[in-house]
Amino acid sequence: MKVLVIGSGGREHALVWKLRQSPRISKTYCAPGNGGISGDAECVPADLKSVESLVAIANQLKPDLTVVGPELPLQMGVVDEFSRRGWPVFGPTKSAAQLESSKAFAKQFLQRHRIPTAHYAICTSNSEVKHELSRFSAPVVVKADGLAAGKGVVICKTKDEAAIAAGEMLSGKMVGEAGARVVIEECLQGDELSFLVLSDGERVSPLVAAQDHKRVGDGDTGPNTGGMGAYSFPGLLDEQMTQWLLQHVARPTVEGMKAEGMEYKGILYCGLMMAARGPMVLEFNCRFGDPETQPILMRMESDLVEAMEASIEGRVSDGDFRWSQDAAVCVVMASGGYPGTIEVGKKIAGIENADALEGVKVFHAGTTARDNAYYSAGGRVLGVTARAADLKSAVDRAYEAVGKIQFDGAHYRKDVAARARKK
Ligand code: AMP
Ligand code: GLY
Repeated sequence: MKVLVIGSGGREHALVWKLRQSPRISKTYCAPGNGGISGDAECVPADLKSVESLVAIANQLKPDLTVVGPELPLQMGVVDEFSRRGWPVFGPTKSAAQLESSKAFAKQFLQRHRIPTAHYAICTSNSEVKHELSRFSAPVVVKADGLAAGKGVVICKTKDEAAIAAGEMLSGKMVGEAGARVVIEECLQGDELSFLVLSDGERVSPLVAAQDHKRVGDGDTGPNTGGMGAYSFPGLLDEQMTQWLLQHVARPTVEGMKAEGMEYKGILYCGLMMAARGPMVLEFNCRFGDPETQPILMRMESDLVEAMEASIEGRVSDGDFRWSQDAAVCVVMASGGYPGTIEVGKKIAGIENADALEGVKVFHAGTTARDNAYYSAGGRVLGVTARAADLKSAVDRAYEAVGKIQFDGAHYRKDVAARARKK
């Protein structure tokens, strides 16, 4: 069968890499893909902001399965358009994707269904912000309602800072339309966890958990990014907590969405804070995480095509996944300046040497291929991922691989998974 992956980042490279391993796949396309993906799939130019362009591509390629990587096409209703035409497509519909595309929607949904989450207020004006802030104590978190590629959340040490951040969002200066409404939220402390489940609209099946590294700098310093690294290993989440999260977060979410007439299919990514008073939902994503997908798929031993079909066809069960007991670690190498103004077009050396190491796969995020060489073309450039028998070996192997790669201005976190290793 033919599969089409929509997207152009490290997550999509990992999806292409994993889907191709299925004996059922004879041809893999990626729209638009990137420099590295072009070695593993046939890349087709595409405009991710245009559902029409994606429909036209699928109409021409006739894939037997389409997998939507990023949130934007989901928010714009690509799944609705494909489903209407009877084309098999993996992911939630536009209305179901509101769990990610509107933080205000998600917070109100969580409250309606008594799913644990931080205290919050929704504001549309500076005067409301001022009034609501009086009910919170610092530090406080300010979030743009709409999609902002991980850049719409500000953790504020003081209420004055929060008022300024909210003002910049509301004025459209910070993240455009996405900031027309803001969510003010109690700041939670604890370890974050990315808990992903596969849903068919009624039933869910958990994937192995991962932890992301959102801040740009070592020791969780500096601004938030799309994610600077991630890891997954069996010790991250035990069976008892997995069951708790299924019972108190994942199932009530999927059941609540169905009850409200917005059946949720695809991957439901629950971004959690493991706070002292229990796990709390920080956010939902309606898709695989980036870079969590890189280590998660490296640990997946079962067939991803089968799991995705189970979601589409409404037959998700506990047996959908088999996992390796190994650990996997992804270190993101980013362009100079990221997450601010970036420099691109830098020639990248050493990818083959890194890829040649045992258990290593270099997933490309922002790269282009030209004249037998790769060049940087985005903020996050590569997701250098290693799998090994234990966490320490996987970390060491990932950094050994990173050490073989060079490009001007490259930076990366040196402490990926350090928190787990200290425990
Ligand atoms: P979100 O997009 O809502 O997940 O926010 C991005 C990141 O901001 C999260 O992964 C956390 O690191 C941080 N964050 C969001 N909400 C909170 C909160 N209520 N308390 C502490 N940190 C938060
Ligand atoms: N790594 C976080 C995300 O994919 O949104």
